[in-house]
Amino acid sequence: MIGGTSGIGKALVQVLLDHDYKVGLSGIERDDLSALRNSHNGNLVIKYIDCSKENCSAEIDELVQTLGGLDLMVFSAGVGHLKNTDHTVENNANKVNVLGFTEVADWSYKYFDKQGSGHLVGISSVAGLFGFRNTPGYTAAKGYQINYLEALRQKARRSGSPIYVTDIRPGFVDTDISKDLKRFWVATPEKAARQIFRLIKRKKGVGYVTKRWVLMAIVVKLIPGWLRSRL
Ligand SMILES: NC(=O)c1ccc[n+]([C@@H]2O[C@H](COP(=O)([O-])OP(=O)(O)OC[C@H]3O[C@@H](n4cnc5c(N)ncnc54)[C@H](OP(=O)(O)O)[C@@H]3O)[C@@H](O)[C@H]2O)c1
Repeated sequence: MIGGTSGIGKALVQVLLDHDYKVGLSGIERDDLSALRNSHNGNLVIKYIDCSKENCSAEIDELVQTLGGLDLMVFSAGVGHLKNTDHTVENNANKVNVLGFTEVADWSYKYFDKQGSGHLVGISSVAGLFGFRNTPGYTAAKGYQINYLEALRQKARRSGSPIYVTDIRPGFVDTDISKDLKRFWVATPEKAARQIFRLIKRKKGVGYVTKRWVLMAIVVKLIPGWLRSRL
């Protein structure tokens, strides 16, 4: 789990441990991880990996070796900024949301391709379906993730191997990343994690969390361009 130290990723780690998965958790350390440490039953390995740094996949490689293998990779790391108009701030976030994501997704796909099986899960966002004036970099990065995951899903299907690529698109979840926004239909991280786990088990290509956010995706597709530019 890349980005498992807080929010959605941390809640999903708890669900995976509850279902007896052996989990490798990484992040930069923000939240208290003692509850996870206490519930792991020997199935948790923690390694702090900063995926804004180039070559973070070498550290992921080490984590996977410690775990003894990899069947499921979840990329939940993300940085969000509200009302930024400065490209240096945007590009700092892009180091995680675009560059880190790309390195981890590419590394994981190659690992699974060599192994002949595996499951890559990316946590993108409903926000990747449209541009939004307050968060241009974030919405663009999430759109990038959505398209990247779709491309890998096509590759996986063509490979003929049991390799799966899932794009999880949350709406609002009550975590730090969204706390400064005007939110609605907000889910707890725990509820989001339970729904994500079900989508992972079903090996869905794309899933909305919570489920009602699929309605937003449909509405966004129906809004004509002239109206979108006035939002
Ligand atoms: N919350 C929402 O409303 C919402 C909606 C749609 C999509 N999402 C997406 O869901 C994903 C998870 O976000 P969240 O809501 O759980 O927010 P969060 O609580 O802020 O969690 C973000 C995670 O990313 C990790 N991270 C940040 N920078 C990193 C770096 N350089 N290297 C490695 N890990 C890094 C954080 O680690 P530390 O804790 O160690 O800093 C944390 O584990 C993100 O991709 C976000 O864009 C969230």
